[in-house]
Amino acid sequence: MSTQHGTGKVSRRDRGMFRTKTVEQSIQDTEEPEHSLKKSLSALDLTVFGVGVVIGTGIFVLTGKIAKEQAGPAVAISFVVAGVVCALAALCYAEFASTVPVAGSAYTFSYASLGELPAWIIGWDLILELALGCAVVAVGWSGYIRSLMDTAGWHLPPGLSGTHGGHFGFDLLACVLVLVLTGVLVLGMKLSSRVTAVIVGIKVTVVLLVIIAGAFFISGANYHPFVPPSRPTAGGGGLSAPLAELMFGFTPSNFGVMGIFAAAAVVFFAFIGFDIVATAAEETRHPQRDVPRGILGSLAICTLLYVAVSVVVTGMEKYSRLSTDAPLADAFKDLGHPFFADIISFGAAVGLTSVCMILLLGQSRVFFAMSRDGLMPRIFSRSHPRFGTPYRATILLGVVVAVASGFTSIDVLAELVNIGTLFAFVVVALGVIILRRSRPDLPRTFRTPLVPLVPILSVLASVWLMLNLPAETWVRFAIWMVVGFGVYFVYGRGHSRLGLRVRQRDGEGAAGTQP
Ligand code: ALA
Repeated sequence: MSTQHGTGKVSRRDRGMFRTKTVEQSIQDTEEPEHSLKKSLSALDLTVFGVGVVIGTGIFVLTGKIAKEQAGPAVAISFVVAGVVCALAALCYAEFASTVPVAGSAYTFSYASLGELPAWIIGWDLILELALGCAVVAVGWSGYIRSLMDTAGWHLPPGLSGTHGGHFGFDLLACVLVLVLTGVLVLGMKLSSRVTAVIVGIKVTVVLLVIIAGAFFISGANYHPFVPPSRPTAGGGGLSAPLAELMFGFTPSNFGVMGIFAAAAVVFFAFIGFDIVATAAEETRHPQRDVPRGILGSLAICTLLYVAVSVVVTGMEKYSRLSTDAPLADAFKDLGHPFFADIISFGAAVGLTSVCMILLLGQSRVFFAMSRDGLMPRIFSRSHPRFGTPYRATILLGVVVAVASGFTSIDVLAELVNIGTLFAFVVVALGVIILRRSRPDLPRTFRTPLVPLVPILSVLASVWLMLNLPAETWVRFAIWMVVGFGVYFVYGRGHSRLGLRVRQRDGEGAAGTQP
């Protein structure tokens, strides 16, 4: 065995870009008082966090757009497809989280199994997922608030109302939201989770209201055709066509069976967030037991709600007539029930706040973990002496996301967030297989069933959804990753604490052999 298993011998693998940080070392790092986080969360807190971040723009905004443009009533099947992909990934995340209960989620897991460079790649990738995801949701939130303000007769100047139809405007509301939430997170997890619990209650109530009240307005005729016939994309699609269609020589098209998968790759955004529960493992009282419960519980609840909402909404109104901005509220408005519509708009605006906050929470924890390992400047891994929160990382990223959300428009970025997340799923699933082989001895409170079958299925399912995203999304993702490689080789590789330890140990070893 090599040093990573505690015998004192240093393998070649320990020195290179694939050096792994031991699971024991990861856990030990969290025990340094200046760099540790307060343990205050339970399984229920985590489930609330999960539901709080998962139900958001995906169901409140994307359902209508995707039913109208890509899948018709079959968008419900797209949600099932995306849910299955997430469930497979969740089973892998749960094993990892119960084995390595340390801040940083997939980043930490990969450091313990695949090595430093893959861990860096995944950390960089998670920053893309969480930071851009947060910016996208903040912009969606600001749209709902503006629509409520319009009803009340208050109007922001166009220059501060966000970008619309090619006209640039700074999104003041989105920017302010992110800054306020950053402050809440700096003050502490317990406060944040209490705020979240109230918000989640409102949000789930509104979603249930859509399902129950909407069920009375369903007309069977709206479900015909359930899978609308495939229709070639106007202009041939080009780089905006799903990569799978271009690769396999299909004519780029909307609707039909391929449309269901292309839609699944987009509505996948609605599920993003359950993986973030794993990022709070270090702040959980009984991580081995509670993290898997939190992850799987929130995912199951959300899948049920999504399928029900999409079945109801496409039954209330013909898919081709659904609104793309606020489909759930507008379906009620169109049927002559503006009162329900207002309640739904209010609930959506409140609900998106918690999504934004938890995405911000997740990314600051990943950044914190990377900084604690020396791959990002160490100055960002000091926890607050009083609040026990990673305040420096939170403030830095909060300000960056706030500025970004002022300039961001939703559609393209949501797809970029999806590809980044799916890529993380692939790495985590491979990590489960590798860690089972390299460290069979580690205690695993939660074990992924049927290894390696389930992780392999998870990889295949995630890659299939990735292939259903537009080719241009792949290009943007590749650019982000190339920049990441640059940062690692210029900064992270030389400053890595693990690298430093290996160098010191090598130095001692060399000194010990001197005559
Ligand atoms: N799943 C989250 C949403 O739908 C990110 O907004």
